[in-house]
Amino acid sequence: EHAITRIKNIKMIELGKYRIKPWYFSPYIEITYLTCIYICEYCLKYRKSLKCLERHLNKCPFRHPPGNEIYRKGTISFFELDGRKNKLYAQNLCLLAKLFLDHKTLYYDTDPFLFYVMTENDNRGFHIVGYFSKEKESSEDYNVACILTLPPYQRKGYGRLLIEFSYELSKQEGKTGSPEKPLSDLGLLSYRSYWKHTIIDIIVNAPILEGQERPQITINEICDQTKIKKEDIISTLSNMELINYYRGQYIITLSKELLESHRKAMQKAAIKIDPACLHWKAKD
Ligand code: COA
Ligand code: NA
Repeated sequence: EHAITRIKNIKMIELGKYRIKPWYFSPYIEITYLTCIYICEYCLKYRKSLKCLERHLNKCPFRHPPGNEIYRKGTISFFELDGRKNKLYAQNLCLLAKLFLDHKTLYYDTDPFLFYVMTENDNRGFHIVGYFSKEKESSEDYNVACILTLPPYQRKGYGRLLIEFSYELSKQEGKTGSPEKPLSDLGLLSYRSYWKHTIIDIIVNAPILEGQERPQITINEICDQTKIKKEDIISTLSNMELINYYRGQYIITLSKELLESHRKAMQKAAIKIDPACLHWKAKD
């Protein structure tokens, strides 16, 4: 049905210091079947040639995304921007994201969304690494609509950081959240991995109460501490085949192997979101 929209139309993009091969179609206006389009890494405006981009860069005043910088730790920052107030940037961000998303509808109407752009900073500026969008009002408790790590940055833990950040916002809001469905294959892999490690971490650190042999924790308590939605916790636990029914109780058994792989994964995930560096208040 959407055969046309599946034809990849752009061969290459140039963004900051990277040349990136798109994965899917994206409806960049007046730009089709070009070998390369040139995108300003700060304001995301796009041009047909390197010359045109250079002309743009000479007058583009921005060295960071629009909106408010609500988080900074080390070289990592997050900018929050409103899809209504920063419409052009938000639309250009959606166009860029569509190059790497097969199934998402492209929203030209960016008004209902907030965008959280993660950057890496150096002495030249704040370089976009990835982002997620979030509905201002979600009737289904979604805390992420679209999520993307740009390909040059993938498989380095930035996706996990984006996901972690989205749950930090949910903690500030005091409610559980879940990513919008359907998730892409890569999206599902990343969420599964995040949920798994976050849940194991909570269980491992749960206190052993007096008179008990092992830590006891309810799903509701895990929910409360992580702001991961109950269904996602249950699906993660059953997916890992960790739940056993024993003497009238559900028991979670963590094998030595699992704990070891968890410890390694935590070691690898060197950068974490530091809640103390988040300057953001939930709107009431
Ligand atoms: N193959 C296998 N596992 C993968 C994977 C891949 N290509 N990409 C991510 N994962 C899993 C792994 O478990 C990984 O942990 P590991 O590195 O210890 O194996 C975990 O996800 C998180 O990886 P991370 O490096 O933090 O994620 P990322 O920065 O690569 O970003 C996405 C993940 C989903 C944001 C990224 O793949 C992306 O932008 N994809 C295109 C857009 C998309 O599909 N978004 C989701 C829409 S619902
Ligand atoms: Na998504």
